[in-house]
Amino acid sequence: MPKPEKTRWYCTECGADSPKWEGRCPNCGAWNTMFEERVPTASQKGKTSGRRADHQHAVPVSAIQGGEEQRIPMPSGELNRVLGGGLVTGSLVLIGGEPGIGKSTLVLQNILSIKSRRILYISGEESAAQLKMRADRIGRMSDNVFIACDTSLESIFTHIAEVEPQLIIIDSIQTIASEMLDSAPGSVSQVRECSAQLLRYAKESNVPVILIGHINKEGSIAGPKVLEHIVDAVLQFEGDRHYMYRILRGIKNRFGSTSELGIYEMCQRGLREVTNPSEMLLSQSPEELSGVAIGVTMEGLRPFLIEAQALVSTAAYGTPQRSVTGFDQRRMNMLLAVLEKRAGFKLVQKDVFLNIAGGLRVNDPALDLSVIAAILSSNIDVAISRRTCMAGEVGLSGEIRPVTRLEQRILEAEKLGMERILVPPHNLKGVDRSRFSIAIEEVNKVETALRLLFA
Ligand code: TYD
Ligand code: MG
Repeated sequence: MPKPEKTRWYCTECGADSPKWEGRCPNCGAWNTMFEERVPTASQKGKTSGRRADHQHAVPVSAIQGGEEQRIPMPSGELNRVLGGGLVTGSLVLIGGEPGIGKSTLVLQNILSIKSRRILYISGEESAAQLKMRADRIGRMSDNVFIACDTSLESIFTHIAEVEPQLIIIDSIQTIASEMLDSAPGSVSQVRECSAQLLRYAKESNVPVILIGHINKEGSIAGPKVLEHIVDAVLQFEGDRHYMYRILRGIKNRFGSTSELGIYEMCQRGLREVTNPSEMLLSQSPEELSGVAIGVTMEGLRPFLIEAQALVSTAAYGTPQRSVTGFDQRRMNMLLAVLEKRAGFKLVQKDVFLNIAGGLRVNDPALDLSVIAAILSSNIDVAISRRTCMAGEVGLSGEIRPVTRLEQRILEAEKLGMERILVPPHNLKGVDRSRFSIAIEEVNKVETALRLLFA
């Protein structure tokens, strides 16, 4: 009698497994993320017991040759910078983003301009004709870019052996599958296995591999978190599809900093680099309006500038209205109480509406200061300069409290063309201020901040 097939339940968020179904992942606590998959048998995995024939001995660190990694410069300067100065040979890079954001365009546009290397582009999503149409649209052509439409990992390695490329693109990792495993493309075990094999190839052959990956609606890279641990660098391509702007961020980079970001604009003929990033903020509202304050927030490890918009008007009814989108209502009530008590503003008979621009939801307490500034700006009808931004948590007694990763926030503000930033006091110890050209003003109390803004 054939043995019954073994299955396990894998979490699509973190890759943890469990022998039975669970509503909540025992490892990361995410709800409804456990899916059943067949367990690969030892022969499928190609595992053997005992010592490997190609066993390599450990060596003292001083005896290791080399040091400086070799980098391949990318034609796009923004991409180069986010990579930390070029693509490192033998590295595995993941470019993630929502469908339709322009990942394929970004990669194709870049590789079509590299003339000195043989490049293999594996497309699991589009036909060769579609790729040709895109290349025509971008207006570039190349003889050293080879296209193969395939979804089997084994035949991808055959293509690699035939073409002998010096750079490999996999578009996308969720569409390819190894024949050794039974599970469907995009499942946890397939994504893990395929990327592990590509990683091994990259390290052994010293050929860099770029993986393109999709992002699920929660904003994390679809497939397990383990994918992020496997690769050397994770770049995220993001932006609102209704706007033309796209931002490329480094989320993880073993060969460079993650505080860099690249900005592009999607045009009729491909992506254009945006060299003056402040145009992105300014173009959306050219005039200075009251009730708007720009805060610097962090999403995980990623800083970005965001607008807090407030409208304060005389209450039409007995009980004033408080309405909030994208921010915690109780926190806003607390901030209103601080404003009333510490800065002496009478908001009791006022309706207050607060909105965080862009439809984002933020939980970062560093946005407190910009929320207070936006409310006050609307109340007294005085606009705040669009070149000023701020970051600071507001305490109950009106003091400005330190925020996390202030240096990164300042870098982001500077990168986006801000001229002045208000920051908490004593938060910059050990930071070399002379490397910033932005004016950094330390404020210790809400009163001081407001005086500076509305002097
Ligand atoms: P694409 O690179 O296919 O996105 P992804 O690979 O991330 O799914 O980009 C798709 C969008 O970009 C599509 O909606 C059309 C638009 N686009 C332009 O506006 N201009 C162009 O020159 C190209 C090639 C695409
Ligand atoms: Mg694509």
